[in-house]
Amino acid sequence: MRVVLFTGKGGVGKTTSAAATAVRAARAGSDTLVVSTDRAHSLADALGLPVGAGPTPVETGLWAQQVDSQARFEEYWGTLRDYLTMLLKHGGLTGVAAEELVVPPGLDDLFALFAVHAEARSGRFDTLVVDCAPTAETLRLLTLPDVLGWYTDRLIPVHRRLSGVARPVLGRDLGALLPDDGVLAAVSRLRHALADVRDLLIDPATTAVRLVLTPEAVVLAEARRTFTALALYGFVVDGVVVNRVIPDGDDPWRAGWAAAQQARLAEARDSFAGVPLRTVPYLPSEPVGPDALAALADALYGDEDPIAAVPVEPPLRLVGDAVLSVALPLADRSDVVLSRVADDLVLTVAGRRRLLALPEVLKRRTVAGASLQDGRLEVRFLE
Ligand SMILES: Nc1ncnc2c1ncn2[C@@H]1O[C@H](COP(=O)(O)OP(=O)(O)OP(=O)(O)O)[C@@H](O)[C@H]1O
Ligand SMILES: [Mg+2]
Repeated sequence: MRVVLFTGKGGVGKTTSAAATAVRAARAGSDTLVVSTDRAHSLADALGLPVGAGPTPVETGLWAQQVDSQARFEEYWGTLRDYLTMLLKHGGLTGVAAEELVVPPGLDDLFALFAVHAEARSGRFDTLVVDCAPTAETLRLLTLPDVLGWYTDRLIPVHRRLSGVARPVLGRDLGALLPDDGVLAAVSRLRHALADVRDLLIDPATTAVRLVLTPEAVVLAEARRTFTALALYGFVVDGVVVNRVIPDGDDPWRAGWAAAQQARLAEARDSFAGVPLRTVPYLPSEPVGPDALAALADALYGDEDPIAAVPVEPPLRLVGDAVLSVALPLADRSDVVLSRVADDLVLTVAGRRRLLALPEVLKRRTVAGASLQDGRLEVRFLE
């Protein structure tokens, strides 16, 4: 059983890459489900066929599903939403502003991943290909179990002790603001469900993430940040897809774009060192339908198996909160030069430049020193 997630900035070709990978996997004999967590019906557009809220047959060995996360949203967030709404109302906040506050962005997509988890556990398919939300925000929300755990571990005992005493002391009005057992149970249920989903998605034996980008400066910068975030959250990024690469040509307009893109492509190779990078040309028309997607997959994967697990050394790790450990296999101490440009760490290893977006927590700190041990560079930051 393999799960392959495609993520990246809006419009770069996530749905297309996911659908193409799924078509290729299915035609190679693996029972494959391609799932979109996107509310727009883009999977149906890419496949050129209607796609339902459950696994919908596409061709031999291939099913597609457009997840409707509403039911799970209600099941897991309904109680919390009502509680938070009540709290905000008590503070005088109602209407649209309150509604926005009680439903954090990315939550829909997060609940859509619950459906992916359910399909994975069902064992019905050999391969699940997931067309994920436009950013890593959703995957970042999977760290929520830790946060919720922190609260529930501290809140529930305090709450148990307090509620007998505090409710009468606070009076009926304020006492009602304390979360009741139903709310605490909902937090705990959500926490465990999220932890299950996260365990599946960061399990290197099962799941890999592929980052999709186009060779443009802004897109690449965001992809680098996403790469850092995913690595730190423990996701295995086992491939980078650079889509819509303009082939070189005679006319000056096209040659200009091709040259600019080649420069970005070189930068992309420096940014995701150690992770296989594949390219897809800018096709003369939109790749729609299984056959066009299969042709795109041929350009993307050549003879390779699109879902094989590639062993990847974790590229980044935070050690405590002031040391960033970067995988640098084969590097020699005298080979490594470290510098910093804005929010990026620039590593030059044997003359090859590598750019790494710094994690949020380290952006405001100064580099204090670095050492190379067992194939990893430990960069220390001032506290
Ligand atoms: N290599 C390519 N050549 C030409 N057209 C492409 C290529 N890849 C994708 N497209 C087209 O670009 C458009 C955007 O692609 P796609 O929908 O896959 O992007 P996305 O990242 O899923 O977007 P969103 O963030 O909106 O979900 C689609 O119309 C698709 O057919
Ligand atoms: Mg899409």
